[in-house]
Amino acid sequence: MKRNPFSLSFGKEPESYISRDFQNNEILESFTADNPAYQVCMITGVRGSGKTVALSAIANRLRADAQWIVVDLNPERDLLKMLAAELSNRKDLLELFRDARINLSFLGFGIEIDGEPPVTDIVVALRRMLEKLTKSGKRVLITIDEVSSTQQVREFASQFQIFMREGLNIFLLMTGLYENIYELQNEKTLTFLYRAPKIALKPLSIPLIMQKYKEEFEINEEEALAMAKETMGYSYAFQVLGYLCFTREKPWRELLPEFDAYLEEYVYEKIWSELSSKDKTVLSAMCEENPVKVENIRKRLNMSSNGFTVYRSRLLKKGIVYSPNFGQLAFSLPRFREFVMRSI
Ligand SMILES: Nc1ncnc2c1ncn2[C@@H]1O[C@H](COP(=O)(O)OP(=O)(O)OP(=O)(O)O)[C@@H](O)[C@H]1O
Ligand SMILES: [Mg+2]
Repeated sequence: MKRNPFSLSFGKEPESYISRDFQNNEILESFTADNPAYQVCMITGVRGSGKTVALSAIANRLRADAQWIVVDLNPERDLLKMLAAELSNRKDLLELFRDARINLSFLGFGIEIDGEPPVTDIVVALRRMLEKLTKSGKRVLITIDEVSSTQQVREFASQFQIFMREGLNIFLLMTGLYENIYELQNEKTLTFLYRAPKIALKPLSIPLIMQKYKEEFEINEEEALAMAKETMGYSYAFQVLGYLCFTREKPWRELLPEFDAYLEEYVYEKIWSELSSKDKTVLSAMCEENPVKVENIRKRLNMSSNGFTVYRSRLLKKGIVYSPNFGQLAFSLPRFREFVMRSI
């Protein structure tokens, strides 16, 4: 039996992958330009929108290029130390660092050069390595998935900014939920992040999803399109609906209750629990019509136009609602409205 090409696991590049080249290329082109317009970029999006997969796709493209050295860092660890460890552990760079007088033996590994005073500060060691790499025309991409404003991340970002100012070829690509990125960039010492581009992941292309479903399930274009629209281009929903169709061998419409159950269990409950009670009230007031006029929500909640703008803008940035037409709002996630109605 053919194995299921759809996957329910998070953070892993799925076999059924829908290209995001349009958004990814924007970042790639900028990073690879002779004169990069920016060296830091952040990808935001709601849970399950595909941030981790987008980050890996971009990192893998650069990994395939000999000019690039890609290092994935875990935001929970000591990031500067891990970066130094990763760089000095790479066999292909050993030769380059041999004469850089770097002593990393205090990390438990290292390159030692006789007769030179050892470098024991991690920042100095990193700087030497990065200078070597920059001189030999290499570029270093550091990726950090799921950042938030922790001591570790703030410390790293602030040192990164110094290295960048010193003209070193380093690039930083991070992902995070909008609220976490927002908090990080508002740190007084990290205003450079405020100016860095933030790419909000767009829904996957409906025509490409349709194509994938059509090939996989031998259904006609009309059915495949209806199925694709049901996912609203939400990455996780695309996988779940495909997965269910593949395993259950039932018409897809009969699978919608199970589809709801997956969405609820694996993402919507989590998204909901992270919202403020006011956000929840606004979303609840949106349920009566879809799309809904902003004016009607305001009336229902008895909110002023200015007061409402704050909530509107936050929900838009989180990727939970979108504005289909001027003065209107609608839910961005498939069957989220039904979920909200069940939750209130
Ligand atoms: N481009 C894509 N094409 C098809 N499926 C995708 C794509 N990107 C992500 N997915 C699928 O969507 C789901 C979520 O992806 P991913 O783990 O990257 O999301 P995320 O935004 O990092 O979520 P979280 O905020 O929980 O970390 C996974 O099942 C993944 O296989
Ligand atoms: Mg992720």
